[in-house]
Amino acid sequence: MNDSHPFTVPLFRSAAGVEEALGRFLLPADPALDSIERASVAAGLPAIAVAKPLGRLLSVLCLALGAKRVLEIGTLGGSGAVWLARGLATGGRIVSLELDAGRADLARRSLADAGLGDSVEVVTGAALDWLDAAIARGEPPFDLVFIDADKEHSRDYVKRALTLSRPGTVIVVDNVVREGRVADVDCPDAGVQGIRRMLEWIGARPDLAATALQTIDAKGHDGFLLAVVRGGDGGTRID
Ligand SMILES: C[S@@+](CC[C@H](N)C(=O)[O-])C[C@H]1O[C@@H](n2cnc3c(N)ncnc32)[C@H](O)[C@@H]1O
Repeated sequence: MNDSHPFTVPLFRSAAGVEEALGRFLLPADPALDSIERASVAAGLPAIAVAKPLGRLLSVLCLALGAKRVLEIGTLGGSGAVWLARGLATGGRIVSLELDAGRADLARRSLADAGLGDSVEVVTGAALDWLDAAIARGEPPFDLVFIDADKEHSRDYVKRALTLSRPGTVIVVDNVVREGRVADVDCPDAGVQGIRRMLEWIGARPDLAATALQTIDAKGHDGFLLAVVRGGDGGTRID
């Protein structure tokens, strides 16, 4: 092996280095995201926004779907909403649900500063309350649902997301690997057990085609779930 080759220098052996290198090729500069990151740090928010590669995947999925109606569960400072908005079809809208009033206010301000105030509605409150009310009032289906809140309620969120879906709706759930702890049946972490309950439930649903991918990036070892709601005719069977 030639150790002077640029791709064998130590930086490019690390997940963070590879993420940065790939990002330089593929992730467009986005001043709105940079500014949200700065505002989030200044407000003391934890660094738990969606990782950039998955954020970009959310943009790509929205573009692929021609998404006009998007739901995010868990807003934090608004980064996820910006990624989603970057793939939104003209006239599309995002509803983003956030329990913490301070975080919701910060996200609203940042999104307005980014010129996305009309595209993203940040709703303050417990996500389950909004979801149950939306189901009760017959809210039209969403094209994509991004679930990224407390992991204990993951199965409840997916169940409701499915009710608010149509055939072809895409559901993405972040943080389903948790440094591999998802594989530990006896893991005492309530969030991990919440993810396991969700996976078991999804795996038994004939109306969802799903997979989960592990990721290693600047934030460590984690992963996400990607599911699509099958059509009434069952679609092309993959299981
Ligand atoms: C991982 S962060 C969301 C990150 C965001 N999606 C992004 O990519 O920038 C999770 C957020 O979910 C919120 N949350 C936790 N429990 C919630 C609940 N029951 N209802 C709504 N939001 C909740 C937390 O306050 C936190 O801001």
